[in-house]
Amino acid sequence: MHLLLTNIKQLCNVETGAYRKKWAKGGQMKELPCIENAWLLIRDGKIADFGDMEHWHTVQAENILDVDGGLVLPAWVDSHTHLVFASSREQEFVDRINGLTYEEIAQRGGGILNSAQKLNEIDENQLFDESLARLHKVVSQGTGAIEIKSGYGLSVAGEMKMLRVIRRLKEEKYIPIKASFLAAHAYPTDYKENHEGYLKLIINEMLPQIADEGLADYIDVFCEKGFFSVEETEQVLEAGVKYGLKPKIHANQLHRSGGVQVGVKHKAISVDHLEAMGDEEIEALRHSDTIPTLLPGAAFFLGMQYQPARKLIDADLPVCLATDYNPGSCPSGNIPLLMTLACTQMKMTPEEAINSLTINGAAALELSEDLGTIAVGKIANLIVTKPMPSYSYIPYDFGNNPVKKMILGHHIV
Ligand code: NIG
Ligand code: FE
Repeated sequence: MHLLLTNIKQLCNVETGAYRKKWAKGGQMKELPCIENAWLLIRDGKIADFGDMEHWHTVQAENILDVDGGLVLPAWVDSHTHLVFASSREQEFVDRINGLTYEEIAQRGGGILNSAQKLNEIDENQLFDESLARLHKVVSQGTGAIEIKSGYGLSVAGEMKMLRVIRRLKEEKYIPIKASFLAAHAYPTDYKENHEGYLKLIINEMLPQIADEGLADYIDVFCEKGFFSVEETEQVLEAGVKYGLKPKIHANQLHRSGGVQVGVKHKAISVDHLEAMGDEEIEALRHSDTIPTLLPGAAFFLGMQYQPARKLIDADLPVCLATDYNPGSCPSGNIPLLMTLACTQMKMTPEEAINSLTINGAAALELSEDLGTIAVGKIANLIVTKPMPSYSYIPYDFGNNPVKKMILGHHIV
């Protein structure tokens, strides 16, 4: 099937020629090649050709969609979420307003342990239905590929339940999904004083089953004071790697915990969060292929310092942005709003924000060959916006949804 999009005000983040970049880093992040007044041809769910409207009448297609002054961009790739969860946590939000910190709430058995209790109680079908509804909502806001973590089970049955739900979401074939195994998210109550026992449970019981069923792509650990130490993180990462799971970890959210360095040491695809960063961490990243993924939605919602995006870009790194969608630190998967935060609070330009959410998001999920730019042969995983003057209008028009339609391979949503 052929589909021709016409009257595209700006076709954004195009790549021509034979070379396909893996990511945009440093100064490259400022570049967002666009074609003004463009057309784009889709054949069998893939980008077949594109150009400017002056030449479009030579193009044949069975179906034509007049975009009517909207923009077309690669869909957002959200490379860090906890979208499968069982219940909201607005009471903790109120507790924080009244003075408690995120860490204090966790120490009292709230936070991740609160979510774990709910997760272990909920029926798998209900968990799937609620998660699918969340997935539909983020797609309506422009997300076209996503990573989803386990980590609220903290028991063999609970972690398996989450990962099976993620697999069922994958099987919907709605958007590309990658799964991360995050049993090392917090020590469950029963193992509070028995860290070794829980690490054994992860390594000897959970990992073999997960590998056997092919349920995860990545291994994740919350490397943080009060959660998993650097040594504990290393044990879990090494075990995961033995089962073919590449590391993608939670690092430096609350403290300079050594998370960045341990991620780099174990060749993590990405180290995520990075609120608490110093020069040593940036230096470690400069000598690696590990992607720094920033989650400003969590910094915003917890009232913490924002990540040093400018310093990381100036250090010539491929900065990625992701939502961290979860019931505790960021109960929103809204990427247009995240772009506004990145621009206003971290001083990223709209071009940098778009690169960080398209090609760099794709790189953080090892999907750059198929997603992240408008290039011939890539999957037609596209946002069609409402009519607007330019891509900078997306973060400018904050709180509103720019998306008119999503083209997801063969489907228009
Ligand atoms: O990335 N910080 C660790 N994990 C999540 C939040 C988990 C939660 O509070 O439920 C995060 O922010
Ligand atoms: Fe997270």
